Amino acid sequence: MTEQGPFNLADTAAYSAWREAKLAAHPTAVGELVVEVADIAALTAAEHGALLDRIRRCNMAVYVEPTRRARDDKAALRAAGGRFGLTSLDCNALADDDGVTPLAVHREGTRARYIPYSEKPIAWHTDGYYNPPERTVRALLLHCANPAAEGGENRVMDVEMLYMALRDEDPGHIAALMRPDAMTIPPNEEEGLLRPATVGPIFTVAATGRLHMRYTARGRNVVWSDDPAVQAAATAIRRLLDESPYGFRHRLQPGQGLLSNNVLHTREPFRDDPACPRLLYRARYHDRMSGT
Ligand SMILES: [Fe+2]
Repeated sequence: MTEQGPFNLADTAAYSAWREAKLAAHPTAVGELVVEVADIAALTAAEHGALLDRIRRCNMAVYVEPTRRARDDKAALRAAGGRFGLTSLDCNALADDDGVTPLAVHREGTRARYIPYSEKPIAWHTDGYYNPPERTVRALLLHCANPAAEGGENRVMDVEMLYMALRDEDPGHIAALMRPDAMTIPPNEEEGLLRPATVGPIFTVAATGRLHMRYTARGRNVVWSDDPAVQAAATAIRRLLDESPYGFRHRLQPGQGLLSNNVLHTREPFRDDPACPRLLYRARYHDRMSGT
């Protein structure tokens, strides 16, 4: 942990100052996250500045492109990431070779067994919670090419606002969630997707002083430390995620996308129309968005 700064439990002065500024700046409605842009592949300085302003305030922004164009959406999303200094794409076993993953319903094959490729809801999480530390996902971009016939919206919440709610309730929650054995994801031994177990904290503070959260609310294939303080903190997280006024809900429309420092998010259940299937593109990066 860094010696000083708002995310050090001993530095209560820095925490208080950060808390006050954060609350004053944080959006109170999802509409405040939205920035209209002509083309994410060629953001103007003003568009970039408006997006950066949102990301600095709440670690995320939603862009809206009013005009659809024939183009390669994957390349456009990578170009948008590049404007925010994102270069280190996380390539998972199911991603296409270029590291940008198309998310659509798969009714057969390997992907069909995974919830992201189904119509099922996905509980609160940050991306890459099963990754080893050297592959920490610090930024997450989503681009919607086509929404579901019904449903499929995301709930989103800034990790720092959850940290604040937990620390205000009991600083002991933070200490527990920084334990190196707080949460274990057992190995995945399926052929082609071999992944060792990962054991680690929920909250970490980088050398840069920035906060990262590794989290999933799912109950299966997750082992929480049996330490009573960790158990209490895990229960508090679930409650606060549902209660917090700082969680937003948004359904991405065609030409819309989320730029984020890997905020907490869900995906609500949806109904897919095979004649007009839901298609989102997802890019995960090991970098944090520059200037944020
Ligand atoms: Fe996700």
